[in-house]
Amino acid sequence: MEKLIKEIQRLKKEKNAIILSHYYQRPEVQDIADVIGDSYYLSQIARDCEQQLIVFCGVKFMAESAKILSPEKTVLLPALDAGCPMADMADEEGVSEWIKDYPDATVIAYINSSTEVKALVDVCVTSSSAEKIINSIESDEILFLPDKNLGSYLAEQFPSKRFILWDGFCITHHRVRPESIVKIKKRIPEIKVLAHPECDKEVRDLADYIGSTSGILTFATDHDFKDYLVVTEEGILHQMKKKNPDKNFYVPGATMTCVNMKKTTLQDVYESLAFNKYEITVEEGLRVKALRSLEKMHELSK
Ligand code: 13P
Ligand code: SF4
Repeated sequence: MEKLIKEIQRLKKEKNAIILSHYYQRPEVQDIADVIGDSYYLSQIARDCEQQLIVFCGVKFMAESAKILSPEKTVLLPALDAGCPMADMADEEGVSEWIKDYPDATVIAYINSSTEVKALVDVCVTSSSAEKIINSIESDEILFLPDKNLGSYLAEQFPSKRFILWDGFCITHHRVRPESIVKIKKRIPEIKVLAHPECDKEVRDLADYIGSTSGILTFATDHDFKDYLVVTEEGILHQMKKKNPDKNFYVPGATMTCVNMKKTTLQDVYESLAFNKYEITVEEGLRVKALRSLEKMHELSK
């Protein structure tokens, strides 16, 4: 493993590349990354970094978003089949029909969506930027896709607006059942439950804090409580433990692994740098259409 890490570092320097990693990636992949972050932060870094070669350790919609924002850069996704089942739940044709039924609504897509869908909507959001963005939207009627859980969480935050939700969800967060949280809370009554808004409502209702991956990490780092139940993909525990070696982190059973986020291995990162695997391309006409909603996201979340 040491030899592989050295080779990755050598190639990265030689090619003036930047390695970005989402919090859900394998610990060893996070450890060789230049930047680790949530989807919003990584899309910002990918857009603003001076490096022209980006190795994006995440899933396809993240690398595609980077390419849409920075077409002049080469964006590589080390594991080509690392997709997002939630993004796949909203198909271009279905979404375009759906939108037609609500001509006055503002259409919002979670960044976990395909480029084709991004090209159809008014604005994109991430879990960490959604509230700020919706705050600046005047329309009272909002179509939100694909995540019905993040959508219903946002609807609760904006009771004066009417949210119409697409029926998608994250298979990883959906696996957590409220009973397992109740069980752990009984065992450790003082435990703080930190949940991602992609969780089902019954789970969110048991949480002390609801936020994006970076929000969850910041909450645990900034508070003095000792015990935390982390209700999101388990990859985030790596940074949580690193930043808070004296605190205790628990998970709700062995259910919260996103197989797609775990597809990228160190060997894949090496091969990505060595052989330009796998270059993300987006057809220019489509890219220009999808760019609008991503640029709007960055503009409204300033
Ligand atoms: P955030 O990084 O925005 O919290 O999103 C989580 C996620 O599911 C990414 O796929
Ligand atoms: Fe998609 Fe859920 Fe995996 Fe994130 S954790 S990439 S939303 S399936």
